[in-house]
Amino acid sequence: MSIRAVVAGVGHYLPKRVVPNAEFETFLDTTDDWITSRSGIKQRHFASDDETTSSMAVAAAQAALADAGLNADDLDAIIVATSTADLTFPSAATMVQAGLGMTRGFAFDVQAVCAGFVFALANANAQILAGQAKRIMVIGAETFSRLMDWQDRTTCVLFGDGAGALILEAQEGTGTKDDRGILSVDLNSDGTHRDILYVDGGVSTKTVGHLRMQGKEVFRHAVEKLAQTAHISMEKAGVSSEDVDWIVPHQANIRIILGTAKKMNISEDRVVVTVPEHGNTSAASIPLALSVAKERGQIKPNDLMVTEAIGGGLAWGSVVLRW
Ligand code: UT7
Repeated sequence: MSIRAVVAGVGHYLPKRVVPNAEFETFLDTTDDWITSRSGIKQRHFASDDETTSSMAVAAAQAALADAGLNADDLDAIIVATSTADLTFPSAATMVQAGLGMTRGFAFDVQAVCAGFVFALANANAQILAGQAKRIMVIGAETFSRLMDWQDRTTCVLFGDGAGALILEAQEGTGTKDDRGILSVDLNSDGTHRDILYVDGGVSTKTVGHLRMQGKEVFRHAVEKLAQTAHISMEKAGVSSEDVDWIVPHQANIRIILGTAKKMNISEDRVVVTVPEHGNTSAASIPLALSVAKERGQIKPNDLMVTEAIGGGLAWGSVVLRW
């Protein structure tokens, strides 16, 4: 017998305001055709002025609780993956805790930019395996629209806002690859690549800043590193490409998503794709994709999936899990 961190529920929240590519044509030297052909993005959601990362995270968490048939006080912990918390402190996670009316347990944020949800899942898994918590709400939530330089056509057309949430629960497994839950994890970072994807501001430099990216360079690292991490976590889990029902990738660019799938020998019909509707929502993209894929009827109990993500740092990683 061994303990596994098993998915008990999933949910998401998207802000009401939908922004199609055409809207950028009105104030930037860009076209719907360029954005679609280079990134696969057709539209994204932007938070309204009164919405924040934590308010969206609360809505996603409530949906996940309803999906699991649980109450907030059934949770032992909340981990929020975000680079765009409402305030410098307290953490977005403690705001979510208060927003849910949860009066016990602990809450904290994880910051690994677009790879944040994979890092948060890995952390939640470790806490469950160590017996420190039995049920953990893992959330990815972002308001990247607040970090955009609206004059920079190379970045502002790519990102969107939203939140997704997953509840992980300790359950007995057999210790084999047939178990439900998280089967393996692989995490990496390399801080020497700081300058290809970063925000040029922060508390310690006394500014808020804007997102800056050398897209081509990030692209080059992405396909190679994502296929590599997926290979490592699949090997750790003892599963092969044929065993995998779904890749649920970070949704940054359709060409990165499909290029990685090809390197993994997994056909396009086994890839969850939400980038056309959501754009790049950073740490929110994987839980959003999981929740939407469940709603679409794509992922079902016992499906084997690989999630993989890369972002600023660079930081990248993957998780193999059976739904
Ligand atoms: O989530 C974190 C990880 N982030 C990513 O994974 C993003 C990775 N990178 C990418 O997705 C792609 O590199 C982009 C979508 C950002 C760009 O695609 P690309 O095929 O690498 O294009 P590029 O950067 O090489 O730009 C090609 C041309 C350039 O013009 P020149 O130099 O060839 O004359 C750009 O100035 O397209 C131009 N361009 C645009 N044109 C119209 C750049 N942005 C735009 C735009 N509209 N919005």
